[in-house]
Amino acid sequence: MKSLVIYDSVFGNTEKIARAIVDGLGETSSLKHVSTVKPDDLNVDLLVVGSPTRAFNAMPTLNSFLRSLPSDSLRSVRVASFDTRVDVGVVDSKVLSTMVKFFGYAGEKILKILVSKGGQSVGTKAFFVLDKEGPLKDGEILRAQEWAKQLH
Ligand SMILES: Cc1cc2nc3c(=O)[nH]c(=O)nc-3n(C[C@H](O)[C@H](O)[C@H](O)COP(=O)(O)O)c2cc1C
Repeated sequence: MKSLVIYDSVFGNTEKIARAIVDGLGETSSLKHVSTVKPDDLNVDLLVVGSPTRAFNAMPTLNSFLRSLPSDSLRSVRVASFDTRVDVGVVDSKVLSTMVKFFGYAGEKILKILVSKGGQSVGTKAFFVLDKEGPLKDGEILRAQEWAKQLH
């Protein structure tokens, strides 16, 4: 099964998760930063797309890229998404907890666009950072590898 992981990242945490997902998927999987993706790259069985959650959404560049895909271009592709986000339990802010309930996260929004382009959803997953620049919470790399194995 040929798979591609596309990501965007500012401080490097989402990139680390993306690399762990590629590891978990195995040899037929490749990794691309969103800025380097070409139309032919999307000729895969499984497409996984991830972004940091910023202002309750994915990175603008990633959103523009996904929205620019022709409709039905992912018709025979299984699609999954992931994001990195701050753990509201750790931040302990009532305002933030309430806001995220209303405005959500990048992962769900990415998946919605992928499905709108014809992709068949195989799920979305959240990975946590301890502060906005990281580091990742302990165990997140392993969790990403394990999640990827289930996507086969
Ligand atoms: C401007 C800005 C906005 C952010 N907005 C959110 C948010 O809405 N929800 C959230 O959980 N985390 C938010 N964060 C934390 C990011 O999710 C965190 O910086 C990201 O996971 C780090 O990933 P990266 O290292 O790949 O850039 C925000 C961080 C920044 C700098």
